Amino acid sequence: MELVSSTPLLVEARARGYAVVAFNIHTLEMLQAVVEAAETARSPLILQTTVGTVHHLGAEYIAAAAKVAASQATVPIALHLDHCQDFDLILKCMRAGYTSVMMDASMYPFAENVRRTKAVVDVAQALNVNVEAELGKVGGVEDNIVVDEADALLADPAECAAFIEQTGVPTLAPAIGTAHGIYHGEPKIDFARLEQIARMVEVPLVLHGGSGIPTAQVQRCIALGMAKMNVATELKNAFSQAIRQFFIDHPSSLDPRQYMVPAKAGVKQLAREKMEICGCVNRV
Ligand code: 13P
Repeated sequence: MELVSSTPLLVEARARGYAVVAFNIHTLEMLQAVVEAAETARSPLILQTTVGTVHHLGAEYIAAAAKVAASQATVPIALHLDHCQDFDLILKCMRAGYTSVMMDASMYPFAENVRRTKAVVDVAQALNVNVEAELGKVGGVEDNIVVDEADALLADPAECAAFIEQTGVPTLAPAIGTAHGIYHGEPKIDFARLEQIARMVEVPLVLHGGSGIPTAQVQRCIALGMAKMNVATELKNAFSQAIRQFFIDHPSSLDPRQYMVPAKAGVKQLAREKMEICGCVNRV
């Protein structure tokens, strides 16, 4: 198969009441591990990279690896660019083969967010690429984007509806109280707000800050219309903790092919757990 747009995967997920998990990957082994997890789980998959990872590995390298993965996979795989504010970088990623992009203009006033998002939607539609936009502001740390708790803003339901109408964006990430990174205590999710947004907006909704949200809260969000969940921090931690443990046990090892084995296994296991929580197992 070729890489697919994430739009149909997410439309189906919302219609059938589950969420597709989007995993932020930073290395070839992380990519392979989540693909293996999706294959064995018979789950659709979204591979996702931050702008920092695009700078780290290169959009072409990432897209090439994702294309190989998709060509060998028997489950649908999309490649998504997470939180990008740079129109030119979005174009570059689409040219390289990304099938889904996020224009994050949530830091601008509403009209400017509409303008910037619509500019991406106009190009992406012609290329059959999904677009995600954000309303409100998700708190926490994602790469070099840092949003203090005091500055995090929840999305306004009426604005969400107007935003979809004015931009035609096919997927929306409304801030509802989750945050990037690990939570101190339970997240304070505004379920009533999510319910209102989901009633006013038909497009699949995206849950940011997927690491560390208790299972019951994740599943309640999905039941209310969240159709994609982003997981970054926990995946990165699983990968790095496994390598750290490997070097504690084998301090003189120097072979990446050895320490990548437990690192991949750790990522694969975490990916499977997230897929089960999100209900996307056995959907293909
Ligand atoms: P976490 O780092 O909390 O998993 O958040 C991921 C995310 O939302 C990426 O956009």
